[in-house]
Parts: sequence; structure tokens; C-alpha cells
Amino acid sequence: MITLRINGENRTVDAAADVPLLWALRDLLGLTGTKFGCGIAQCGACTVHLDGKAVRSCMLPISSIGDRAITTIEGVGKTPIGASVQKAWLDLEVVQCGYCQSGQIMSAAALLAVTPNPDDADIDAAMSGNICRCGTYVRIRAAIKLAAKATSG
Ligand code: FES
Ligand code: FES
Repeated sequence: MITLRINGENRTVDAAADVPLLWALRDLLGLTGTKFGCGIAQCGACTVHLDGKAVRSCMLPISSIGDRAITTIEGVGKTPIGASVQKAWLDLEVVQCGYCQSGQIMSAAALLAVTPNPDDADIDAAMSGNICRCGTYVRIRAAIKLAAKATSG
């Protein structure tokens, strides 16, 4: 049994120590907003926050997490930055098929937490690991800037 702190709640999973967090979230805890894309930390679909930092959950063994706080797409909207990012995504209709978008939002929220007014280079650096096969990159960039404006005034 391993206890994880997810979206402010302690959740216990009965799983082997090397099970990736992504599988614990999706298959054992029913938190299916976090997506499987590549399984090898190359696409960003599985991005969650660990103590506020964007990480790829598909290659993160649950035994390595300890008491660090996990935030998923189901919980990120409870933070002011996460709520702003989600609102900007809706206002600018960023989403196409949607599959990559929870990972995109998690990376964007983590970026704005440390860089409240990112320029294009900051956005490229933070978001380059999040692949969108629908090519929504232009709208993602605009939405990050809109969210930045909303949160920093
Ligand atoms: S599923 Fe984790 S990075 Fe692609
Ligand atoms: S919106 Fe379809 S993969 Fe990004």
C-alpha cells in the first residue's frame, strides 16, 4: 500500500512500488483526465504537478513520490493560476481533439507559477515537451499570454 497526496487528499493505492503514477491515477483512482500518449516521457500528455513542478507521470514510479503534493487536471482549477489558464483556454477555444490538452494546461500553469509574464522564448522552453498533433500551438501561446494578463493584472 502506498499513500499519495493528490489534489489535497490522501489516497492509498494497492500497487507495486514501480507502478508509474499515470497508471495509479487512471486505473486505480479513476482520475482519467491525465492522458497516456507515448509512455516514454516524450509527449507530455501525462503531465501533472509534483509540488507545483510539471512532471511526466508515465515514467514516475509511485514509490519515488513520497509526501510531495500531486496536482492533476482535476485539481489544478482550484488554484488561481490554474483557474485562469482554464478560462483562457475556453475563451480562446484552444482545444481541437483535446487529447493533449490536460498536459498542455498543466505545463502552462506550472510555467505561470514561476514566470508570471512569460515571453515567447519562455513559453517555448516550458511547452516544448508537450506535443499537439492537432497543431494548436498558436492558440496555446495566446492563451498562456491571456492567462498571464489575467493573473498578473
Ligand atoms: S505519456 Fe508521458 S510523456 Fe507521453
Ligand atoms: S488538441 Fe488534438 S492533440 Fe492537441
